[in-house]
Amino acid sequence: MDKAIGVIDSGVGGLTVAHELMRQLPKERLLYVGDTLRCPYGPRSEYEIKKYTWQMVNFLLEKKIKILVVACNTATAFTLSELQDELDIPVIGVINPGARAAINATKNMHIGVIGTEGTIRSNAYPNALLNINSEIHINAVACPLFVPMVEKGILHGETTLQIVSETLEPMKNNHIDTLILGCTHYPLIRDTIQEVIGEHVSIISSSEETARDTSAILEYHEIMNKEDRVPYHIFFTTGDLDKFSSITNRVFKSSEQNSDSVVIEHVTINE
Ligand code: DGL
Repeated sequence: MDKAIGVIDSGVGGLTVAHELMRQLPKERLLYVGDTLRCPYGPRSEYEIKKYTWQMVNFLLEKKIKILVVACNTATAFTLSELQDELDIPVIGVINPGARAAINATKNMHIGVIGTEGTIRSNAYPNALLNINSEIHINAVACPLFVPMVEKGILHGETTLQIVSETLEPMKNNHIDTLILGCTHYPLIRDTIQEVIGEHVSIISSSEETARDTSAILEYHEIMNKEDRVPYHIFFTTGDLDKFSSITNRVFKSSEQNSDSVVIEHVTINE
């Protein structure tokens, strides 16, 4: 059987990338791991982030994947280069695609970045942005309350608005015209972020660009699935199956994807 695309995240955030992969690559099979048991990764040490990421990767390697998409900014920031050096399959992260899309979108060269404490601490976005264009002004803010809120399934309403408003306060009046959602959980609260930051700011989520890169790499390595069939995808969670299933169904509902082709399972991963 054709090998799958492996996708990893600390929880449900990577579903936003998986969703876009399924849309752009409808013949490809996905194997997804969300480490919801140990989410959030954002406040964790580099040692823990690397250890947990490798555990997810090793689990997927045993299942024979042909490419790995690190659909987590925090894991990308701390482990991408190591994974690319050590694995003999292509590995794609979400930071460079997001930085590229933001540079294409900005008109006034002022870009905001929001992410987990880990991602902001790593400076991965400023490095990626300045690497492409050294004239860019960057305003980066960590949003430690967003991931726990999204993992609880709180995606709209008063609480969401209040938390987003308070967290993004330092970003207001900073002249940004483009805001990078530097965490794959944030597209799930995109409407509230847009409301708070203002309609004049273009919001960039790296999922579309990451899926395009994945497609180009599959093409380049000639490992695109050629069979004409509806693939079935497996989404593994290390945490509560009901909670994970409920958010997965919300992310995939109202889309053209056939939910019958998605199986959700609980898994225990460790060394
Ligand atoms: N979706 C992850 C990211 O993009 C969230 C990390 C976390 O668990 O804090 O960074």
